[in-house]
Amino acid sequence: MARAVGPPRVVNIEDLRRLARRRLPRVVFDYIDGGADAEITLRENCRAFESVNFRPRSAVAVSSCDLRVRVLGTELGLPLLLAPVGSSRMFWPLGEAVAARAAGEAGTTYILSTLSGTRLEDVKAASRGPCWYQVYLCGGRGVAESAIARARAAGYTALVVTIDTPVAGLRERDARNGTKELLARNPWTMLPWLPQFLSRPRWLVDFIADGGLMNFPNIVLPDGPMGYADVGAALEASTVCWEDLAWIRQQWNGPIVIKGVHTADDARRAVDAGAGAVVVSNHGGRQLDGVAATLRVLPEVVEAVGNQVEVLLDGGIRRGGDIVKALCLGARAVLIGRAYAYGLGAAGQPGVARAIDILRSDVTRTLKLLGCPSVALLDRSYVIPDYARNVANDRTTKNP
Ligand SMILES: Cc1cc2nc3c(=O)[nH]c(=O)nc-3n(C[C@H](O)[C@H](O)[C@H](O)COP(=O)(O)O)c2cc1C
Repeated sequence: MARAVGPPRVVNIEDLRRLARRRLPRVVFDYIDGGADAEITLRENCRAFESVNFRPRSAVAVSSCDLRVRVLGTELGLPLLLAPVGSSRMFWPLGEAVAARAAGEAGTTYILSTLSGTRLEDVKAASRGPCWYQVYLCGGRGVAESAIARARAAGYTALVVTIDTPVAGLRERDARNGTKELLARNPWTMLPWLPQFLSRPRWLVDFIADGGLMNFPNIVLPDGPMGYADVGAALEASTVCWEDLAWIRQQWNGPIVIKGVHTADDARRAVDAGAGAVVVSNHGGRQLDGVAATLRVLPEVVEAVGNQVEVLLDGGIRRGGDIVKALCLGARAVLIGRAYAYGLGAAGQPGVARAIDILRSDVTRTLKLLGCPSVALLDRSYVIPDYARNVANDRTTKNP
């Protein structure tokens, strides 16, 4: 399997995306790949990286590069963490445990979503690296309280509170692919949507062997784990508010990370609420379509709170050069979502490992080309942000 994701077949993350599309049924692939509404923010997240240029220091020999970074007191081997990605078990059998194992072997952190199909204890046991637990309040505070207690007992070291999901975004691709009809569990309603599974026999065999449609074993309701079809309503009924953070603080005495910050104001509120880190994130363009790309928001957040908490960023990272740009603009490290989810859907653990390897060697090469020996030394002097270019262009237009 590792050979199947090696070069020349897989050279970059887009190649993993192509393989994932080939193995997964359309409804599953589009669940990973798609964004909300017109997918403007989804595209913008990637485009923002393209519009930042590098300013290398040439003729500098960098024989080795130091990629290590400390995040919440833990040293990681490279400046990326695996973002919480719900329903990963639909992409590969026990997908969350498989991705956590790959993260641990690569020397980094795996963040488990509340909306996972694998028990949080099994995910932690699969990884030899640090794991964080991402909280939604699905099912109410009592249900979250027992998940948080389980996470503490299992050895999770930080709690990630996602604040951008008062309702699930409208993913138009999901609506077109029959997600609702397939979850209705009525054979007649499902029938027109079933051929997409038959055309993906490798995935189908794995899916059936893994027990079929997953439920959510970390959301334990009075009558058992929450069913897959109930997730939309559960999210809508459980918006996380600033008031909830004081309560979460009482449940968890370790570090808290607030994910889904778009503005300096919210970043300051997160500091006031006792966060140890914030993630500048728009959920990978899956929630409010039309919000700015995260890379554009990053400088505002860093300026507001950069010395008080650690600032992480996610959204649109498909190359190691993107990671370097985010670090230059003040992120301590980044989270990757789709980049590893494509690898998981394409080939399981070797696919996730390959995604991480690609990004690691991209970062190393980019540092060498920049003439910078360590990610810790990256700063704004290594980039020309696009707004600076626009100002320069304006000047040229005005003074031709
Ligand atoms: C398929 C999928 C499922 C996701 N599920 C969750 C989730 O359960 N909780 C959460 O906080 N973020 C979730 N996210 C958002 C990611 O944590 C992350 O913010 C986003 O993927 C970053 O953008 P990128 O995919 O462009 O790297 C999900 C993203 C994807 C692609």
